[in-house]
Amino acid sequence: MPALRLGINIDHVATIRNARGGQHPDPVRAAHMAAAAGADGITAHLREDRRHIADRDIERLANEINLPLNFEMAATEEMVAIALRHRPHAACIVPERREERTTEGGLDVAGARERLRPMVERLTQAGIRVSMFIEADPRQLDASRDIGAPVVELHTGAYCEHSGADRDKELARIVAAAAHAQAIGLECHAGHGLSYDTVKPIAGIGSIAELNIGHFLVGEAIFIGFEASIRHMRHLMDEARRGGMA
Ligand code: PXP
Repeated sequence: MPALRLGINIDHVATIRNARGGQHPDPVRAAHMAAAAGADGITAHLREDRRHIADRDIERLANEINLPLNFEMAATEEMVAIALRHRPHAACIVPERREERTTEGGLDVAGARERLRPMVERLTQAGIRVSMFIEADPRQLDASRDIGAPVVELHTGAYCEHSGADRDKELARIVAAAAHAQAIGLECHAGHGLSYDTVKPIAGIGSIAELNIGHFLVGEAIFIGFEASIRHMRHLMDEARRGGMA
């Protein structure tokens, strides 16, 4: 099976910092630690309300971190301008407002093709690899391909929230969507809500090339440290990839 990349989302290091203001804990220091622990990339979401990551964090991540930066952003002119200024390796377009999301929570690409198409084009022309954060829904996959996005990231939130037969159903949707992505020539990523308990069935899907994980790892860092939490996640992903899914 092809290698599976791990992108570490550091948003919630900034959430803790912002709870008190000031500089600590520093998300850029967390990004350096993630690199030391074997992460393949750093992911950060600059929200319109700046509730966690700040503009200065993005600037520092772009300048100081050697790993590829995946810039999560709403589909707004403000965010496109910031992306074009920093030219991260990748930009993942995510919904921030209710009207931009599907009922499940991914970006409604099918309902906003004409608005999204020129943004994808401008980002792509700047050398940024654009992905769409969508539900595991063939309509959204086809729409992402139609507007020229080379990558999709499948929303694993519902899969992680459910249990038992409902979780199995969500997993089956993700498996089918990953196969569909491959069939129509899209690179497929996945993320949201993944933990030690939920990562293996997703990591075992051979057509998924990258997972982006944050909240669980930042929480687990309280108990075992950030590097150790990342290393253990990496270990579980590698095990699943080798076929040891249990
Ligand atoms: N992928 C995308 C597109 C996201 O927006 C997020 C954060 O919300 C994640 C992955 C990581 O999710 P989590 O922090 O729950 O691991």
